[in-house]
Amino acid sequence: MIEHDVKDINLATAGRYKIEWAESQMPVLNLIRDRFSKERPLAGLRVSACLHVTSETAALVRTMQLGGADIVLCASNPLSTQDEVAASLVANDEIPVYAIKGEDNKTYYEHLNAALDHHPQVTMDDGCDLVSVLHKERESQLGEVVAGTEETTTGVIRLRAMAKDGVLRYPVLAVNDSMTKHFFDNRYGTGQSTVDGIVRATNILLAGRTFVVCGYGWCGRGLASRARGMGANVIVTEIDPLKALEALMDGFQVMPLLEASKRGDIFCTVTGDKNVIDAQHMKVMKDGAVMANSGHFNSEINIPALEAMSVGAPRQMRPFVAQYTTEDGRRLNLLGDGRLINLAAAEGHPAAVMDMSFANQALGLEFMRANAKSLDRDVYTIPEEIDREIARLKLHSMGVEIDTLTEEQAHYLSSWQEGT
Ligand code: ADE
Repeated sequence: MIEHDVKDINLATAGRYKIEWAESQMPVLNLIRDRFSKERPLAGLRVSACLHVTSETAALVRTMQLGGADIVLCASNPLSTQDEVAASLVANDEIPVYAIKGEDNKTYYEHLNAALDHHPQVTMDDGCDLVSVLHKERESQLGEVVAGTEETTTGVIRLRAMAKDGVLRYPVLAVNDSMTKHFFDNRYGTGQSTVDGIVRATNILLAGRTFVVCGYGWCGRGLASRARGMGANVIVTEIDPLKALEALMDGFQVMPLLEASKRGDIFCTVTGDKNVIDAQHMKVMKDGAVMANSGHFNSEINIPALEAMSVGAPRQMRPFVAQYTTEDGRRLNLLGDGRLINLAAAEGHPAAVMDMSFANQALGLEFMRANAKSLDRDVYTIPEEIDREIARLKLHSMGVEIDTLTEEQAHYLSSWQEGT
């Protein structure tokens, strides 16, 4: 059997069914897969992918393999791996996978390095850890890499910082910046899956509770809207006046986090920043408050501060629910070690939305392979025609037709002479 490090290879059959289920809800990716298997646009391309190892990711890597790519996969987060999916990719698809749910930090980085031992020509990243290790610790390999793709807002922020500092050594496609990615995945995907993760972990009723959403980017917008849909009273906290104003006019309460901390029952961070929920906030939270994070890294809740203000060891009330008791006797509950709760306690975004995100990855990879030579060491977005084509295909797969401009209307929109 090919090299791998997965929890239990005997889980492969369960994984196979789970992948089949996801693929049945990914019509756009399936169309790309049919074309890729005929045209083989990725023939011989060595790809190291660092993604959440889920059934949806399996659909993507199987598509790339049929397109001719020689691919190795590792986890992009220690808690997000679906062990049965990892087993199936190894046993049924002969794709080397390095990912175990619950792996410690050391193993996480060993897995990243195992993926880089593949000597990729293309990196496919989710959060920029693979690119970071390559640039910081394995510079000798950088000359072999022609391009990369990045899935998340967090990763794209890091990459732009690298490009600005002149240290990024190859062009990277910001998949996150496609409209058919962030407008849907970040909003509807994060919205639904984060509520799903919090509810699966705690089984608490959201109706009538005060739910604090920290950050009103695309993920925060989606989460606030879905939490409201479950009957929660939603408070949004922001640092950007425009986004704060938007949240207010979307009908949410807006206030500083310190004030919200006294009122909230459930808190969820989706900012991409660090120590957003800090000691000062935890000091005034109510007994029983629940804290979760759905941003990429486990840096948004200051866990060392929570530990420092607690007495005794946390009690594991349920899987993914650690209860800390403060010196003044309040019980504060931290979900999923502060790691992204939608993938830690649930299954991440549903397949139907990952369909578009991963259509962008697949077509983006094809685009980068074809164009890498003419691109600078910078961050790129997918051409608008590809983005719109993905939306068109998704609509078609959902049985929805739309109108087209008449010739007269098209002309009107491109001219400036006509007035009142
Ligand atoms: N990111 C968020 N949800 C995901 C999923 N289901 N699969 C892969 N990456 C994800």
